[in-house]
Parts: sequence; C-alpha cells; structure tokens
Amino acid sequence: MSVANYFESLDYGPAPEADTNVRDWLKSHDASFGHFIGGAFRPSKDGKTLSTHEPATGDALAKIAQGSEEDVDDAVAAAVKAQGPWEALGGKARARHIYALARMVQRHARLFAVLEALDNGKPIRETRDLDIPLVARHFYHHAGWAELQDSELADYKPVGVVGQIIPWNFPLLMLAWKVAPALALGNTVVLKPAEATPLTALLFAELAARSGLPAGVLNVVTGDGATGAALVRHDGVGKIAFTGSTEVGRIIRAETAGSGKSLTLELGGKSPFIVFDDADMESAVEGVVDAIWFNQGQVCCAGSRLLVHEGIHDRFIARLKERMNSLRVGHPLDKAIDMGAIIEQSQLERISALVGKGVEEGAEAYVPDIETPRNGCFYPPTLLTGVEPASTVATEEIFGPVMVAMSFRTPDEAVALANNTRYGLAASVWSENISLALDIAPQLQAGVVWVNATNLFDAGVGFGGYRESGYGREGGLEGAYEYLKPKAWSARKPRKQAPPVPVVEATDSFEPMAVDRTAKLYVGGKQVRPDGNYSLTVISPKGKVIGEMGEGNRKDIRNAVQAARKAAGWATASTHLRAQILYYLGENLAARTDEFVARLSAMTGVKKSDAEREVETAIDRFFTYAAWADKFDGAVHSPPLRGVALAMNEPIGVAGVICPDEAPLLGFVSLVAPLIAMGNRVVAVPSERYGLIAADFYQVLETSDLPAGVLNIVTGYTKELAKTLADHDDVDTIWAFGDAEVSQMAEARSVGNMKRTFVDNGLATNWFDPKVAEGRLFLRNAVQVKNIWIPYGE
Ligand code: NAI
Repeated sequence: MSVANYFESLDYGPAPEADTNVRDWLKSHDASFGHFIGGAFRPSKDGKTLSTHEPATGDALAKIAQGSEEDVDDAVAAAVKAQGPWEALGGKARARHIYALARMVQRHARLFAVLEALDNGKPIRETRDLDIPLVARHFYHHAGWAELQDSELADYKPVGVVGQIIPWNFPLLMLAWKVAPALALGNTVVLKPAEATPLTALLFAELAARSGLPAGVLNVVTGDGATGAALVRHDGVGKIAFTGSTEVGRIIRAETAGSGKSLTLELGGKSPFIVFDDADMESAVEGVVDAIWFNQGQVCCAGSRLLVHEGIHDRFIARLKERMNSLRVGHPLDKAIDMGAIIEQSQLERISALVGKGVEEGAEAYVPDIETPRNGCFYPPTLLTGVEPASTVATEEIFGPVMVAMSFRTPDEAVALANNTRYGLAASVWSENISLALDIAPQLQAGVVWVNATNLFDAGVGFGGYRESGYGREGGLEGAYEYLKPKAWSARKPRKQAPPVPVVEATDSFEPMAVDRTAKLYVGGKQVRPDGNYSLTVISPKGKVIGEMGEGNRKDIRNAVQAARKAAGWATASTHLRAQILYYLGENLAARTDEFVARLSAMTGVKKSDAEREVETAIDRFFTYAAWADKFDGAVHSPPLRGVALAMNEPIGVAGVICPDEAPLLGFVSLVAPLIAMGNRVVAVPSERYGLIAADFYQVLETSDLPAGVLNIVTGYTKELAKTLADHDDVDTIWAFGDAEVSQMAEARSVGNMKRTFVDNGLATNWFDPKVAEGRLFLRNAVQVKNIWIPYGE
C-alpha cells in the first residue's frame, strides 16, 4: 500500500517489534532449558522434555524439561537449604535483593515483553505497557514490605518453603504476584510455571541469579500438571499458592487437606459488567473492550457477562458492535493490534464449542467482519446477545474473547443477575451516579469491584475471590499475611490424648429422670427438639451422669443452616449494634457465673478456681470482640492512579464451627464471638463430650438481643455433624478445632462450594492465652476483603 493510500483509509499498517534479542537469548541456550534449581540450570533426572510453541504461528520456540518427582525433590531440598539463611538475613537485607529484582526487570523490560508476547501470543502492547511494568511494581512494593517487616510484622514468621503453581495467561505477572511477597517475607520458593508458557520464568530465574539472589531462594521446575501435583504432595513444602482452574484448585484442596500446609487459591470467574442507563456510554463501551478483549479474554477476572439496563440495551449493543468492527487481531509483535493469539488449539476448540452451544441454546452471535490471521491460533472477538441467565454460556467460564449480554430492569435485578454465578472474582459497575454505584458495590459477591473501570491492578491492592473463585489475597498487606504465620500460633503442640470417657459408676439409689430433662438444640432463636429425639449422656471424669444433651443429626444441621441463611440482615447490621449485642452476651454470661462455674467443675472435674477463670475469660472474650466489632476496619489504598481502592472487610456468610473438648465454654466462645462480631451467622457444634455447657448458654442467648438465626447450636456427635456442615453448599466457611481427623475431613469435604477453612490440625490452642486464642488472626479468618476501586476526575 502507498503512503497516499494509508492517508486515505486512515488504517494502521503493521508495526512489528523486533524479536532479535529473544532469538539471541534462545540461541544462547540452544533453545533448550533444564530446571533452575539451586542457582543453575540442570536437566530432568529422567531426561524427559516438553516443547513450547508460539501460539501465533505454531512454530516451536524451545524445549523444556518435564519435571519428575525426583526433580521436585531436588528443588525442594535446595529451597529448604536456602530458607534458614534467607530468613536470617533479616527484612532490610532482603529488601535490597527484592529491590534489585525490580531494577533487573526494568533493565530487561523489552526482552521480557517480547519473550512473553511470543510464548503466550498476547499483544506486545499489553506485555510492554501492562504486564512488565506491573511485574516491576510488585517487586518494588514488596521490597517495601521486606524493609518494614522487622518493625511492622514482628509477631510473624515466614511459612518456610512455598510451592507456587501458575497458569499461562499472565506468566511473568503471576510469577511476580507470588514470588515477590514470598521472597520478601523470608520464604524460599519452588515455582512451577504453566507448561505452555515457561520461558519468562526461566529468564527471570537466570537474571535473578545474575543480580545476586542467593542460590536456592528461587527454584523453577518446569513440566505439566503431574509436576505440579508432585509439588503439592511434597512434605517439605509449607504452603501452596495456586492460580488456575477451579477444577485443579479442588484437586489441590483435597490433596492438601489435613496436611497443615497453608493454601491460597486464585481460580476462575464469570465476572459481571453492569451498565446502568446513566453510564457514560462511550467510556462503558471502551470498558467492555478492556474487560473481554484484553488478553483475548483469557483473564480470570474478565468481565464476561455484560448486564445492560433495559432502557439503553439496544443502543448500547449497537454501539458496541460498531466498536468491534474496528478491533484488530494480528501477530502479537505488531504494536498496532488489539488482540493476539489464543494460547493453544485445545483452548480454541473449547471456545468454539462453547459459542456453538450458546447459539444452540438460543443466543445470537455477532462476529465483526475483520481480518483474522489464517495460520496460528486465533479467535475473533465475539458477542452473544439474547442470552438466558441459566444458559451454558452465561454460567460457564469461556476463557476466550466472547462476551455474553443480558439486560436488567432494576438495580435489584442487576444485583441478582450479577450474583447468579458460583464464582465471585470481580465485577464492574458503570454509572455516573456515584451513590448508585457505591450502593451496588457492597451487594456484589466478588473480591474486586471496579467502579466505572475494569481490569485495574496494583501491588498494593489485594486481589482474590469469593466463593468458587478461591480464597486468599495477592497484593498489599492482606497478601503479605498469606506468606506469614503468627509466631505464637505456630508454636502450638499436638493436643494430648484425652482420657477415655469413664464407665458410669453404679449407684444403689434409683433416681427417676425428671420429665424431659434432655437439653434441646438451639435453632432459629428457639430451643428445638432434635429431629431423631435421641440424646447423649454427659459423664463426669468420675463416672457420674451430669445430664443428657440432644443428639442432633443431618436434618438438624440443615435446619440450622437454613435459619442462619435467613438471618442475612446480620451482615449489614451496624457494627455499633453488633458491638452492643456482644457486650450484652458478656454481661448476661457474667450474671450466671456461678451456674456456669458449677457446671464446668461438675462436668470436666476442673478445680473451682479454674472453672472461675474459664468463665471470666469467656466473658472477657465477648468484651474483646465487642470492642473489635466496630474497629476491625478495612483500608483505603492509594494505587498509582487518580482514585482510591477501598479494602472492605466483609463477612463471609454462614460459618460452621466445630468446637474442641478442652475449655468447652471458652473454646466455644472464642470461636463463635469473632465470627458474630464480623457479621457472620454461625452454626456451632459444641464439644461432643461437654456440649451441655453450650446448652446452658441457650438461656444467655434468650435473654440477649441477638437476632434469631445468628447463632445456632447443634449438639451431638462431632464427626457426623462436621461432615454434614463441610458438605453443605450453603455453608461458606468451616472452622474445625479439636481432632486432627476432623480438620482433615472438613478441609477435604470443603471442595463442593470451595468453602474457606480454618482448622487446628489437632494442635492444642491455649484458649486462656490471648496471644494465641484471640485477635487479628481470628478476625482475618472471619472476613473476606473486597477491594472497591473508585477512580475519579473527569
Ligand atoms: P490448569 O488449572 O489446568 O493449569 C494451571 C496450572 O496448574 C498449570 O501450571 C498446570 O500445569 C498446573 N496443574 C494442572 N493440574 C495440576 C494438578 N493436578 N496439580 C497441580 N498442578 C496442576 O488450567 P489450564 O488447563 O491451563 O486451563 C484450563 C481452564 O482453566 C481454562 O479454560 C480456564 O477456564 C481456566 N484457567 C483459569 C485461570 C485463572 O487465572 N483463573 C488461568 C488458566 C486457566
């Protein structure tokens, strides 16, 4: 085409970025890479390899090692060896290393950007302007946490060796999100990049070693899912951090259940993009482009469900189609394209199949009449309209450049449609009415909400999901805690075996049972008879029958969960009200001190003074969480844009709580009070042996103002009740304290709806010691952080 023609059509010509630097780097390694272990490359022990291709052309890029169990062993051994000295360096010295990594990324920004574009197929414009600068930003930010660690996080220690498994959609950025906080805070890492995109991780490891990072601090083992699975199983790893599909997230949760490994999961999404009729239409249309065609839609938080106010729906869709006509799909190294290639053929087929299914189910597909390269793995931008909320394309994550559109009539309907998903990663709200947008944001079940924006990220702002999008946060202080353990908490020892329940002593005198002496259950604010009408005998250490408590069953748990669901108003009750009610609970308990002391000593055989201490501490614990109720605030982050991100601590929902036998009153109160203080509703299973103490508590509840359904108590056999709670899809989090087997079971069975877990793995908690048994650790486990981004200005 001549220059005159370009002027006439005002079209872009190709503007390719040179790739010689990448080709030279590949050549310097003969396009073949081993694992990076202990500061050097080394081949797989069994010699197996995989190859990685350019999605845009199908050409082979490099051979990589397929990691075996032995290779993972070696990498973990290198990380274990390096961890002690790395931790002992101290925060300030580590900060220098992390800072050096940030500088290294910036110095080699072009090499990283081109390599990422070739290996992944995403546009160079995105790797150059978004991925790589954000990578550097993560290392800068976390160099800061290392610097401040010794003063600000002095009560915490690193987890140890961390296994990190990342996907192919943002290969280097996901490395940065995971490696930066882990290393900054004194952990060492074994990283398993995705098999399709391992190259930037290998380049990073090589350059990190050259910039002085000690050997073994960062190890990279390449390979497929089997390599990842070997890392997950490894005993030398104290934590697994995973980003990828919900399906693999489930496998990892089940595999690590009961192992004591901490776990963060950043999984899939089906995020809503809500446009109200007063939105700035041009900005919102551009927002859609960013939400679903950025990185070819292969983004876990892609705004992939477009919900448009009915009144503007047709106009909006027409304008969007017009905009789609000017999108450019092409070679990733062309600086003038909007969309590059899809990662691989299997993903392309999955996208096509899902779009086909959508059309079959009644949707209308719009594909602009634009050029798409004939070779390589490309899929055009696609819009599906007339989509039913229950259809496959509205519920399944497509993970490609496909937007599905629906309409809504009222704000309530928008919220209902937005939340009509098993996921909860992100959401975008578009309205010029800030009151409306800020009213909607807290109602959305999502870890990130963007107001009049989309796909904004920053190292200082936590990112992570609700529901089946996973748990844990990456970025900011929330993310830093995921790589630390409270010192006092990690000093706990395994619980001592309790003496067996004694045989009931024989007695000559016959005492007829008073009519209906059996304690009932407490469900929906009322004492109710157990469904099966059975009871359990509570026996003192001396073999004396203390009383009978209700034996709840699955149906009782289901009723209790239903009552808890109904009490949803507690989540939005004012923090002042929650505080007042917790104070009353403490007060009411204090008024019955003698009764509780007598019951505790009779039931558990403790000295009267110990029973008094337990009741006193339980009262105090209520007061502590009453105090916290209106103080465990979120934060206002200042990311590098004109605007703020509000980190809100939101309740998780319905919590199942399994209480231990020791300190039966205090253990129960210590677990239930922080959850209630943060706005959760609770179904508690008190100690199996001494649950009668919770039954005494019904009267305390009846004389308090706690709304019905906020705290439900089901006594009975712990394992059976815990199983029902862990399996229940309307329970959002499970806290299991007591037997190690119950912890394991609760975690393993939490995978149905990916409920959050907080368990003790059979380690004994000294409930009398506030350093271990109360405070921020419990509060953090009782909330999920939602980050609401609010850019401002014209
Ligand atoms: P995936 O979840 O299979 O892979 C992610 C990472 O996990 C890779 O490094 C992989 O090797 C590893 N892995 C696979 N199986 C494993 C196992 N059993 N144990 C430990 N590690 C294992 O995701 P995949 O197959 O690449 O993509 C499939 C779908 O997952 C996509 O269509 C998309 O829906 C979703 N996905 C979501 C991502 C997100 O960021 N939320 C990222 C990538 C994929």
